[in-house]
Amino acid sequence: MPTPQARDVNAILETMDAKRPAVASHCRRVSAYGVHLAAQYGLSEEMVETIRVGSLLHDVGKLLVPAHILSKPGRLTKHEWQALQNHPEHGFDMAEHLGFAPGILDIILYHHERNDRSGYPDGLDGNVIPWTVRIVSVMDAFDALTSPRVYRESLSADAARTLLARESADRYCPWVVSGLLSMPRTMLDAVANDGLDRYRPDARPNQAVLQTATTRWAAACPEEAGQLTTW
Ligand SMILES: [Fe+2]
Repeated sequence: MPTPQARDVNAILETMDAKRPAVASHCRRVSAYGVHLAAQYGLSEEMVETIRVGSLLHDVGKLLVPAHILSKPGRLTKHEWQALQNHPEHGFDMAEHLGFAPGILDIILYHHERNDRSGYPDGLDGNVIPWTVRIVSVMDAFDALTSPRVYRESLSADAARTLLARESADRYCPWVVSGLLSMPRTMLDAVANDGLDRYRPDARPNQAVLQTATTRWAAACPEEAGQLTTW
């Protein structure tokens, strides 16, 4: 019998699959990378589970960022950039409302914080960013670099690792980046190429959570909602 939390995660992913499919696939890959690295480091079962669920939900706030901003090929305007940068706080609000644990909320709120305090929303110092968050941040960046974007080609896994290693002392946790460098290439390629897009957790969606996520999306993005006949 799936736990309530498993049903909630499933429901949120169902909404993301429908409204933001690329974001949903990205979240699944980040989760797979993160769990692998956490297991490689021998982290506790509880931390691995926090990373697994937190990664699956880390970009849930992008449900409330208009799709045309997420897929815009050119430079974002100041206003659009601000709307995009609000996604950690939107996601935090949604997940807190649904009762997710503090460790999972940390990942959602802080995954864009950086070692050198250049991140957002709070410009935290690297020392106070939880380990679980640091792992998700690096895997998030790795997946972003190795996935194609409308404005650029994807990097190879090795090129992305080299780039992150160069930036690790400043922007990313060097401990986590060294872990990424030691991850087997075959594992990285498997996550990047296998059928994760088709993956569905075995639980049935929690209809109440599904409704909450969908209603918030429709309220935040009325133009998109108005274009759909069924959702
Ligand atoms: Fe994000």
